Amino acid sequence: MRQIRDVFLPQVAPSVLACNRHNAILEAAETKDYGVKILHFDMMDGKFVPQKTSFHPGFVMSHHFDGFIKDVHLMVINPINRVDAYLEAGADVITFHLEAYKTKKAVMRTIEKIKAGGALAGLSIKPDTPVSALLPFMGMVDLILLMSVEPGMGGQKFMPESVQRAKDIRSLIRKEGRDIILEIDGGINAVTSKLVSSYVDIFVSGSYLFGHSDFKSRMLALIENQ
Ligand code: DX5
Ligand code: ZN
Repeated sequence: MRQIRDVFLPQVAPSVLACNRHNAILEAAETKDYGVKILHFDMMDGKFVPQKTSFHPGFVMSHHFDGFIKDVHLMVINPINRVDAYLEAGADVITFHLEAYKTKKAVMRTIEKIKAGGALAGLSIKPDTPVSALLPFMGMVDLILLMSVEPGMGGQKFMPESVQRAKDIRSLIRKEGRDIILEIDGGINAVTSKLVSSYVDIFVSGSYLFGHSDFKSRMLALIENQ
């Protein structure tokens, strides 16, 4: 299993959700030719978010993705129930939503389960959740995924308040003194990535990267901003 910490940060993690539905595996796998090291896979259950577009474990497991770091973003209720299947699929990072649970204990149990399985444990917050809600978990989490749009759909507009939120999370990480990775997801393009580049380690980007004829130059534009 490759770990994010084995690769140089910052990185861009293309979101497979934005690939052409009929050719997603090959389109995502091709990004390796452009230096992509991390692929971001979204899992939506139609309950935590209205949409139900899922990269099930069988998809994530495809041999076409060998060599990529697999970054799984669970937008589901009861995420703990999905952990084993994604560990088996070779996920290197499993991120779930803080809002998926009512109790801190349930969040902690899920983080522990992901880490015990050998993956990095990521915790995500939606735009309305205060950054301070992360505090109880700063001592155990490996990665924080800041949503810069409401989760559930690609192609939305970056929420400008995310810049201050990224800055605040970076300062929490500094205070904690642990090597916690900060990832941002939603509306990331050549302009918005620049706004948060001082704070963020991994930029998830979907609709900006895929569906155009110039993946390479778009990828370069994101990298140059880091
Ligand atoms: C949205 C997903 C994202 C999505 C990002 O809920 O978590 O990963 O694919 O897409 P863009 O970059 O188009 O906002
Ligand atoms: Zn995502």
